[in-house]
Amino acid sequence: MNAVFPGSFDPITSGHMDVLTRAAKMFEHVTLTVMHNARKQGRHLFTLDERLTILREATSHLPNVSVDSFGGLLVDYMAQQQKGIIIRGLRAVSDYEYELQIAHLNRQIGEVETVFIMAATRWSFVSSSMVREIASYGGDISEMVPRASARALKVKFADVYTERESQVHSRTMPG
Ligand code: PNS
Repeated sequence: MNAVFPGSFDPITSGHMDVLTRAAKMFEHVTLTVMHNARKQGRHLFTLDERLTILREATSHLPNVSVDSFGGLLVDYMAQQQKGIIIRGLRAVSDYEYELQIAHLNRQIGEVETVFIMAATRWSFVSSSMVREIASYGGDISEMVPRASARALKVKFADVYTERESQVHSRTMPG
């Protein structure tokens, strides 16, 4: 059975990676699909191309995972690609209500099943939006995201990271 793990992945986090790695052990093939909407383009930190590049690098060690993108309804993508099952990660009960609604709607409008995989508790507080927020102030996000995301965030906020590093350096240097 094949599966699709859809999301915005702006950028992919360690929580996503945890869910993806576990899904890759359960399904023959998992497609990580960036769902994008041209009208919402400006709301993302990373462009679609940047997100795809990060995802390819972050998943290169997983042989049965591929990366794709789609600008439309998830159920249409599932039907076009004959992909089988939707995977979504759950971090906490607070995710459940929203995810339950989406899963029911996707089954109603496209007869597609959703399988939930619980992210490990150590990632329960990690989200792409929180990671973006911390990185925008030059904070340490290295544990919360795969290396490819960390590198891309440091490039995106290069001026903030450089300034912060020079402040830390001047505090630790004697005299
Ligand atoms: O990572 P996210 O932002 O939680 O992912 C949400 C996503 C992209 C999976 C969801 O918004 C989605 O499926 N969007 C595609 C459009 C769609 O099918 N919407 C109807 C769901 S009822």
